[in-house]
Amino acid sequence: MNFELLNLDAAQAGHEKCDVLVILLASTFKAGRSPLAAVISKILKAGDLADKPGSLLDIYRPAGLACARLVLVRVDEAGATSLRKGVAAAITLIKASKPKHLTFCFDQAPDAKALHVALTTLAEASYVYASTLSKAEGRSLALVKVGVPNSTELAAPFAQTVATIHGIELAKEWANRPANHATPSHLAGAAQALAKAPRIKCDIMNQKDVEKLGMGAFLAVAKGSAEPLKFIELQYRGAPKSQPPVVLVGKGITFDSGGISIKPAAEMDEMKFDMCGAASVLGVFKALAELQPAINVVGLIPSCENLPGSRAVKPGDVVTSMSGQTIEILNTDAEGRLVLCDALTYAERFKPQAVLDIATLTGACVIALGGVRSGFFSSDAAMSAALAKASETSQDLCWPMPLDDEYAEGLKTSFADVANVAGRAGGAISAAKFLQRFTSKYPWGHLDIAGSAWKSGAAKGATGRPVGLLLHYLLSLQSPAA
Ligand code: BES
Ligand code: MN
Ligand code: ZN
Repeated sequence: MNFELLNLDAAQAGHEKCDVLVILLASTFKAGRSPLAAVISKILKAGDLADKPGSLLDIYRPAGLACARLVLVRVDEAGATSLRKGVAAAITLIKASKPKHLTFCFDQAPDAKALHVALTTLAEASYVYASTLSKAEGRSLALVKVGVPNSTELAAPFAQTVATIHGIELAKEWANRPANHATPSHLAGAAQALAKAPRIKCDIMNQKDVEKLGMGAFLAVAKGSAEPLKFIELQYRGAPKSQPPVVLVGKGITFDSGGISIKPAAEMDEMKFDMCGAASVLGVFKALAELQPAINVVGLIPSCENLPGSRAVKPGDVVTSMSGQTIEILNTDAEGRLVLCDALTYAERFKPQAVLDIATLTGACVIALGGVRSGFFSSDAAMSAALAKASETSQDLCWPMPLDDEYAEGLKTSFADVANVAGRAGGAISAAKFLQRFTSKYPWGHLDIAGSAWKSGAAKGATGRPVGLLLHYLLSLQSPAA
């Protein structure tokens, strides 16, 4: 799907040839003299479009206009939620007619945030998964012309939003693919494909390399499956070498059966989504490739399956992590923290300005925050402030969670330096406390996206989160004033 930004007012929008013209109407709509303004003011006068955010009016072949169909949407410019609701309703309404060419107009000049929310919602509502269907048609929309009265001012935010959408869609694509179509090797291939872009480099490490590095925790998880593990390293260099990078670490469990501590059968298929952290890192790199910003970013993805094969790690086994710390694996289903802890130790070599890991880490985080906000953990004030701001501007929301040392009590054991699980209470936090043990060398943050990365039930599918959040964070480091 391609996007184009146009400077349009209501008069010009009426002359745009397209399958559907969507107009977002703010409550302050002022009619001008154009045919479109005449149509709209008649409708408003008659009261045919309720003055309630999210109300829609659908008009077929409106007289005097170049579009085949006109959809009016009431929005309330103050609220991201109502904007999202209105745009989603409009796209859902027209989806069945399979439009190819959409003109999407704001009657009032939007700010960067409103533009971002509207376009990411449009992309979300028009997305169609296709890659494992034999007769898939895919998404009908090929071109979206975005009309605003203030296009010059919005040129840079628009480019950012479009690149973010491309990143989100790459993340969704990989996350949605079934585990037999998205193995660690497939993810490595996707990372290598990204490295065709300027300033991006990709290295793939195999089991032998990981053994040499002493990643005993990562290896322990991978042992239960015949599918080869991959450790993916992506580097984007947009700033001088002297500038320390931000390292993103994405959990890349391509299927989590739980291992010997096996999960119940119901909904186990959803554990194909246990690589959403990895997918978000790929999505971020896709957008970096497009935007070429002046920052340095490293992406690390420890990727394997968690299966109960005959060589699988067993509850009670003790392994030695790359950091030298020994870990008693009391529950093989707490595998995410095991693959992440070695990647976090590996991250030290980049002398990073900050390290942020992204993981579908705990069911407890789903209970705590549901699907609205990702859980964010950090003891670094600057990073916490930057993430809080990025959460607000991207509307890819997260919420700060605590890291008091008392939450680590349950990780104590007599048989190793640390156990990989504590009790059920505060499970998202004890998982974060486990990770924190491996992050003493740099400012660190952790995003638990177990609730936000995908939807269950009838709308089952990846959301592409938190690609938007991560990009807003990274780009804010490039120009703190923006
Ligand atoms: N991938 C899961 C976390 C998860 C579970 C995400 C359900 C979304 C929905 C993770 O590997 C896991 O199994 N965590 C365990 C940890 C427990 C054994 C301490 C969990 O949350 O149950
Ligand atoms: Mn698990
Ligand atoms: Zn998992």
